[in-house]
Amino acid sequence: MRSAPIDIRDRPPYTVEQFCVKEEYEADLDRILVSEGEIESRIGCLAEEISRDYRERAENEVYLVCVLKGAMRFFDALTPRLELTVPNSEGVVRAARYSGGEPGAEQAEVRLLDREAIEGKDVLVVEDMIDEGYTLETILDRIEAAGPNSVEATVLFDKVARRQTDVDVAFTGFVIPDEFVVGYGIDYDERYRNLRHLAVLDETVRGT
Ligand code: IMP
Ligand code: MG
Repeated sequence: MRSAPIDIRDRPPYTVEQFCVKEEYEADLDRILVSEGEIESRIGCLAEEISRDYRERAENEVYLVCVLKGAMRFFDALTPRLELTVPNSEGVVRAARYSGGEPGAEQAEVRLLDREAIEGKDVLVVEDMIDEGYTLETILDRIEAAGPNSVEATVLFDKVARRQTDVDVAFTGFVIPDEFVVGYGIDYDERYRNLRHLAVLDETVRGT
């Protein structure tokens, strides 16, 4: 059975001081939403669920796809914990959101780096975060077009209240509030990826 994601929207956050973050980050963070220990425990649970699921139905080779760059830490924690009974291999896609001229006309630019590797495989996309959903939707469409046997997604953090698409995520780690977050691989302007916990960025940093 698949577990429900952990919804952290209704619980109190941690203060930055409670987790002794890197000194250079202290002033930039407002609060800690999810600690490294909680993230890694949940990833362990996702790994078991994913392993069970693929053991039951994977017929072909499983192809694990890391969405660069934000999902690198999630991918690194998840994939060694998978216990698959079929051969598996790994690849990457590069995804970025950009503003397409009109206000709100945001689109996702996705580059598959190894199209040929996808054909016939059972593909699992490993993504850091889903927000409106356009990025993951585009990734899944591009992978579908490359002829896999199946495609599923696992996402560590879900800002479900902002969804604009009906993209299907098979395995979700945490449901989080509508806040701009950084850490555990997730950046603002390429910074804060090596923060060990998931934190809310202070509003003054983004100038909002
Ligand atoms: P979507 O297309 O709206 O689902 O956007 C998802 C992508 O936007 C994520 O993979 C991140 O790269 C980025 N993103 C969304 N929310 C945040 C955030 O709070 N912090 C950092 N990046 C974010
Ligand atoms: Mg991402």
